[in-house]
Order: sequence, then C-alpha cells, then structure tokens
Amino acid sequence: MLGRLNHVAIAVADAAKAAKIYGTAFGAEISDRVPLPEHGVYTVFATLPNTKIEFIEPLGENSTIRKFVERNPDGAIHHLCYEVPDIIAARDQLISEGARVLGDGEPKIGAHGKPVLFLHPKDFSGALVEIEQS
Ligand code: CO
Repeated sequence: MLGRLNHVAIAVADAAKAAKIYGTAFGAEISDRVPLPEHGVYTVFATLPNTKIEFIEPLGENSTIRKFVERNPDGAIHHLCYEVPDIIAARDQLISEGARVLGDGEPKIGAHGKPVLFLHPKDFSGALVEIEQS
C-alpha cells in the first residue's frame, strides 16, 4: 500500500525565496507560487529526479502552519508525503491499526489535484504524514 515518497515539505515565511536557491545552486526546476486556500498555504515545488520538495508558506490569518512558522522563523521540515494507490482503503487500514487521521477524516484535494489526508505525528514517530492518492 505504501508507495513512492511524493514530497518532503518545508514550512517557511516566504516560499518563493526559500525555493530560489534550489533553482540557482542545484539547478532544480522550480514551480510557480500557487495559493491553496483550502489548506491555508501557498506552495512552491522544486522537482528532483526521484521526488519533490514542497515549500509551504502561510496563507490567511487562520493558516494551520502560521504558528509553526512563527516557532521556526528560519523554516523547518513540516511533513512527508507518501503516495497510496487507494486513499480510502489506506485511510481505513491506517485507522484499523490505530493511526489517527486529522480533520474530519475526509480527503481534500491537494497541491497536485489529487485527494490527500494528513495523519497524526504522534502515530508516526513525530513526523506529520500526508498521504496522496497516486
Ligand atoms: Co504536502
């Protein structure tokens, strides 16, 4: 059920600025800065051969990452995103094994136009986990 690592997300105050050095120094392909109001973030992606780095920046006063960025003003790793072939089957299996799904438990459309869910970091060794339908 556990598929590819889709991305590692880094939360920052300015996503475009944070991504820039990946383009200039590493030569990575950098996406535009895209607002995702339903998730309360702007995103910029750096594409690597085997995965992506997602830079997320607070969008709106109630952004779920605003406090995280205030606590980590230089930025910090925020979550890991794994692909799963069937997000509902994955969710139900994870819940049956005792993992907690954040929010109302229903998938939302994520940065790649596919359904995503977030899983409680206390159930994953301190790492916030996002699953995305592949
Ligand atoms: Co993500």
